[in-house]
Amino acid sequence: MTAGPEAGQTLCDILLEAGVAPEWMRAYGEVPRALFLPEVMWPFDDGRDLVISRTDTPEEWRRWADADVPITTQWDDGDHTGTAVGELRTSSGSMPSLVFAMFADLSVSDGMRVLEIGTGTGWCAALLSARLGERNVVSVELDAAVAARARKALDAAGWRPEVVTGDGLLGWPERAPYDRILVTVSVREVPRAWIDQAKPGAVIVMPWGTRYSHQDAIVRLVVADDGTASGRFTRLARFMQIRSQRLEVRHGDYIDGDDWPDDTRRSVPTLSASSLMPPGVEFALGLLVPDCTHVSGHDTDGTPGVWLYGLTDRSWAAVFFYGEDGHSASQVYQGGPRSLWDEVEAAYLWWVDQGRPGHGEFGLTVTADGQQAWLREKRQSVEAVWKKP
Ligand SMILES: C[S@@+](CC[C@H](N)C(=O)[O-])C[C@H]1O[C@@H](n2cnc3c(N)ncnc32)[C@H](O)[C@@H]1O
Repeated sequence: MTAGPEAGQTLCDILLEAGVAPEWMRAYGEVPRALFLPEVMWPFDDGRDLVISRTDTPEEWRRWADADVPITTQWDDGDHTGTAVGELRTSSGSMPSLVFAMFADLSVSDGMRVLEIGTGTGWCAALLSARLGERNVVSVELDAAVAARARKALDAAGWRPEVVTGDGLLGWPERAPYDRILVTVSVREVPRAWIDQAKPGAVIVMPWGTRYSHQDAIVRLVVADDGTASGRFTRLARFMQIRSQRLEVRHGDYIDGDDWPDDTRRSVPTLSASSLMPPGVEFALGLLVPDCTHVSGHDTDGTPGVWLYGLTDRSWAAVFFYGEDGHSASQVYQGGPRSLWDEVEAAYLWWVDQGRPGHGEFGLTVTADGQQAWLREKRQSVEAVWKKP
């Protein structure tokens, strides 16, 4: 089903139906999203990117501006020009219902000071300003052109929170300590700076994911007196990744040429492609199979496949799912020190054995030594409770 303007409901209806609190609805009423969107924008709906120009189709532009969809506002770190869709989405207006769900996770109260990471269009910074007062809001944006555009849009809309051009991974110590930190760009490793710049008891809300896939979940961390931060995942989400933590893996770095290497290990998968695809499964597998990234897609002849690449060595796996039932005549090819597909299958079976825990049963703890995901209880790191094969 489309979430776009054809859906018939206004954004206001959608937010009310989602239970957005009255104080946030008031902020929403004061900050029209359209004021923060550019002349040409790319709404993402129903798995595809659209191109909408305000000059060419003003009515349509307005309807998409008020739709519950994320809207790409920059491609390829600004290298992309023209109106065609680019390669990589690098800045956007986040999906409104998700923004308000994250505000709910943030649980702010009057007078709190908030640091936002990833200003983007500036809409969230304006909403936070409307809710908490612009003097209590600092937002950090890495891309100078995006930051300048956000400042201009904020100014024109009548809001003046501080917008800093800089690397959000460093936080913004000048205005610390913060009561709340909201991150609207996806993180793989939580930087120490955010915890150091947060008050004890502060809440940090962010999209977090593993290297396994682009499937993130929002985590709500509470900062403890001892300088650690911990909390559960609240909802699944997909966000663009924070710039310096993006990962690029090239197939050619693992397998030279078109033929399988001589020492390739061959087997038959016990899982089908479709069993791995639900977002919650992908997220859980990412927690269980470390230092591995995967791509799913189709081989040149249209056969569905999964490719896995090790991040600390040159282990690789390729799995092709032939046949009607998705796995009877399928084939696994693996190479390198790890058998990555075997790890994925073992992780999946362990996850099933655990009662198929959803994202909300997992949590994350960040300490001076790094970060650790856990299942159900903080003491039970997934690494400790999952006895790998
Ligand atoms: C999804 S957009 C933010 C959307 C914003 N909340 C809104 O609704 O308009 C993510 C932004 O994070 C920015 N970003 C990426 N890496 C960053 C970093 N290291 N520090 C600060 N901002 C970063 C991107 O340039 C992009 O503008």
